[in-house]
Amino acid sequence: TRRTIVAMPGDGIGKVVLNETIRILNSAGFEADYEEGDIGWEFWCKEGNPLPKRTIELLKKHKIGLFGAITSKPKDDAANELAPALQNKGLVYSSPIVGLRQYFNLDICIRPCKTYKGNPLNFIRRGKGGAIEEPIVDVVIFRQNTEGLYGGVEWSNPDNIVYAALTSHPKFVKNFGSVPREDLSISTRIFTRTGTTRILMAAFGYAKKNGYKSVTLCEKPNVIRETSGMMFKLAQEIQKKKFPEIELWNTNIDAQMMWLTKNPENYGVIVAGNMFGDIVSDGFAGLIGGLGFACSAQMSDEGIAVFEPTHGSAPKYADYPVSIVNPIAMVESACMMLEYLEEKEVAARIRKAVAEVIEEGKVQTYDMMKMTGSADVLANGAASTQQMADVIIEKLKTK
Ligand code: NAI
Ligand code: MG
Repeated sequence: TRRTIVAMPGDGIGKVVLNETIRILNSAGFEADYEEGDIGWEFWCKEGNPLPKRTIELLKKHKIGLFGAITSKPKDDAANELAPALQNKGLVYSSPIVGLRQYFNLDICIRPCKTYKGNPLNFIRRGKGGAIEEPIVDVVIFRQNTEGLYGGVEWSNPDNIVYAALTSHPKFVKNFGSVPREDLSISTRIFTRTGTTRILMAAFGYAKKNGYKSVTLCEKPNVIRETSGMMFKLAQEIQKKKFPEIELWNTNIDAQMMWLTKNPENYGVIVAGNMFGDIVSDGFAGLIGGLGFACSAQMSDEGIAVFEPTHGSAPKYADYPVSIVNPIAMVESACMMLEYLEEKEVAARIRKAVAEVIEEGKVQTYDMMKMTGSADVLANGAASTQQMADVIIEKLKTK
């Protein structure tokens, strides 16, 4: 059966990376139709809604989305021209990708970070006798995507009820004394048992299915007792009752950030709440080449899944006459989609083509050449986004 994918390019470089990725999917023989879903700053300016209802309806119907990137804040006032008018109407811009996550409860976020052989951006370290080593990173991070510090429950200068609740907490009295409410800004870190259990189950289930021997919980349970502490307790229960063959490792986010630069090869599946999951996934992404390589999937309980690179819209490059950014993060995200759809053979062929292109090293985007992004990088030998996609397509023909 032919599938329909909701293609949501968004803003800036989101458009070009998605476009080139669809070209690669077509060349690889993945049979699908694409319906374009409007999302982003552009639609806020045009119609006062960055996530139009029609896009929600498209996703409800087709269930699978490929998303480029959006601009959360415009780069200059010119782009902002319409916004004051909209704000005068009482409309406030809020990030449509966060909106999408909340609307469909895309609470499971998966971010794999795997080393490509020959990537000049790979992390290296010194081993015994000063020898240079290039450890192979093969980590999949499971990040709770809707709760915690990103749940949006926040106050500045809190009202009576909130202030009364705070000042009745013994720790508040002890640590903050009689601080006046005007002096307070508060962001809550709310974990639910349901949300926490779901991300833990997803992580353990993935580890079991894919032959990883351990799951590492990366939180801070000895300090953040109620939230991290609950997650740790639930992790222990789930491991004991449902996944006795898989080890549970418990690390603290701060120590983990150090260890990932010392021995990243020791880690397999990592699970964390929203904020720490965000941090640890960017940390590991840095070891395998950074934003040009970091892909992700987000999924709900109800079979809605959206696949996207973790980078943003990079507005400063969006207006270049020829696009220079690396499409691989988007291509890898599409491979995650293919695997989700059980199109494993197509996914494997694309991954292999990408791996060979990287290993040969003849065609590299500016980031892979350690250049600073600018319009001249092409004159200095960097490949454009389209040239990178072209060479992947050429490679696919040999697969
Ligand atoms: P960004 O990820 O757009 O870009 C940061 C820098 O990373 C770029 O200037 C570029 O040097 C590099 N980079 C990003 N993607 C690359 C690629 N594919 N190839 C090569 N280099 C790449 O982050 P920034 O500049 O902080 O944010 C720009 C806009 O994007 C903001 O409005 C931000 O809110 C939004 N954003 C959206 C996200 C999303 O849609 N999921 C995620 C992150 C940021
Ligand atoms: Mg991030």
